[in-house]
Amino acid sequence: MLSTLTPQPADALLALIKLYAADPRADKIDLGVGVYRTGQGATPVFGAIKAAEQKLVDTQESKSYLGPEGDMGFVHALMPYVFGTENPTMDGRIEGMQTPGGTGGVRLAVALAKRAGSPKIWMGTPSWPNHAQIFADIGLELKTFTHSTKDGVVDMDALRAAIAAADEGDAILLHGCCHNPSGIDYSEAQWDEIAGLVAAAKLLPVLDLAYQGLGQGMEADAYGLRRVLAAVPEALVAYSCDKNFGMYRDRVGAVYAMVADPTQLNAVLSHSYALARAAWSMPPDHGAAAVRLILEDPALVKLWLDELDTMRTRMRQVRARLAEAGMAGSVNMVPLGSQNGLFSMLPLSGEQILKLREDHAIYMAGSGRINVAGLTMGNIDKFIAAVAAVSA
Ligand SMILES: Cc1ncc(COP(=O)(O)O)c(C=O)c1O
Repeated sequence: MLSTLTPQPADALLALIKLYAADPRADKIDLGVGVYRTGQGATPVFGAIKAAEQKLVDTQESKSYLGPEGDMGFVHALMPYVFGTENPTMDGRIEGMQTPGGTGGVRLAVALAKRAGSPKIWMGTPSWPNHAQIFADIGLELKTFTHSTKDGVVDMDALRAAIAAADEGDAILLHGCCHNPSGIDYSEAQWDEIAGLVAAAKLLPVLDLAYQGLGQGMEADAYGLRRVLAAVPEALVAYSCDKNFGMYRDRVGAVYAMVADPTQLNAVLSHSYALARAAWSMPPDHGAAAVRLILEDPALVKLWLDELDTMRTRMRQVRARLAEAGMAGSVNMVPLGSQNGLFSMLPLSGEQILKLREDHAIYMAGSGRINVAGLTMGNIDKFIAAVAAVSA
């Protein structure tokens, strides 16, 4: 049987990581892999996480099984950050469970949408490549529209047309903030409009919040999600702590369901548990327990938020420096200044991206996506000059 399997294309980004590692040039720049880097190019463990992990080592008495819902202390402690402090459960209409990373959250959310009867899901493209892969795996038909134009502007007309064409009960995936890969987020006024349109069209929103705090701040980055939730009766939320707590490999995430009436929550959760049980049984405990220990301790919360502020400030400085450069050859860097999060897209051809790699040791995804956190005050001028040279 196994001999019938034919090789699948390698993951392009993983292949890029290998090429980068093998490059002997000392001034090489990695803008490929999607992790935060300091001005020295490191991806360190947060101080708040180190402290919480120490506490965990000192106090954890058992590693006996939890249930498929994982660490509910973690799930609940996160809710005021996601849904706001005033009424984080929306009067008992929201409940969640822990998942293996935001990927597990997205997977469970769309599997629930499918079980609930959504025949298809709408999504702006380009998007995180795993979105389409997950939908295909779950058997949910994908309908796409253009997320943003090459000039770095949201294509609201495409979104309006998509919502108008959607059928009642369809799902729609929206990036909460720090759009991957474009960095182009909706403005508050655009979110206000989207919330109304999604509600009027009776769509099921699936909100993917994987970078809260990396864009404009913890509160500002939740604006769109909260606006949509206030407008619709039902929604699903996938959340990742892997970027804003730097937990990447520890796989820390959650999925939340908001229902129209609290009495419906039990049935929804029972489906979520059954889906999780069949997929991964229960989520890994360690990372979520460490995040919970931070969220339960005001001193650690302050340390964590300070560390997150430092990351965001650094990325904003890199973006400001890129925008200051104006035109780099034929590439307009100005829009990058107002975009959010780790990623932006450069309008470069495959040939130009290859030239950046071969002639300048600059590694970026074939789509033109760059991770701005790969740039430092030490290498940014070289980067701008190289983009100018290949796109002149
Ligand atoms: C838009 C988006 N959603 C979800 C995820 C999932 O994150 P993780 O599974 O690493 O927590 C990512 C990660 O890159 C992402 O970019």
